[in-house]
Amino acid sequence: MGLIMTLTPVTQSSQIPPALLEKIEEAITHYPVSKRSAALPLMHLWQNHFGYIDESGIEWIAAKLELQPIAILEIVTFYPWFRQTAPGKTIIRVCRTLSCAMAGSYELHDQLCKATGIDSAAGHDHGLPTSPDGKFSVEFVECLASCGTAPVCMINNDLVEKVTPADITTIVAQHS
Ligand code: FES
Repeated sequence: MGLIMTLTPVTQSSQIPPALLEKIEEAITHYPVSKRSAALPLMHLWQNHFGYIDESGIEWIAAKLELQPIAILEIVTFYPWFRQTAPGKTIIRVCRTLSCAMAGSYELHDQLCKATGIDSAAGHDHGLPTSPDGKFSVEFVECLASCGTAPVCMINNDLVEKVTPADITTIVAQHS
């Protein structure tokens, strides 16, 4: 008789490390009256770890908080910050608020998209516009609180100030 093997699909909820679980359990203790209030903190923890929240993550968080999955899905789809698909390895956020816009941030965004192969007109659609090779995501954000050094962008967690078109080649090369 042949051996029948069933493969368990790799989902985020099947890969929760003990450290993440510990942080989740700890976060829930801050909301003893209403577990529901822990939804946002848990979703941030989840996305910080996995980069996005997949269907299994939505279901897992909902179950943990004794909610229906739709309650978590509504939050994921409401806030542009949350993503349902994997972002690029490097996330570039371009400020588009007044000072940066006047200093050329829209052109900067177009050039970054062109240099990374991203469709600059692509919408958010519950995931960031991402390059075909999965290396970059580029998105607009509002003021990054560095208006005096416009235009500015964030490359992952680093603020980069007074970005010029000439910097784009370096930025892309450094993160490829
Ligand atoms: S307007 Fe861009 S940092 Fe404030």
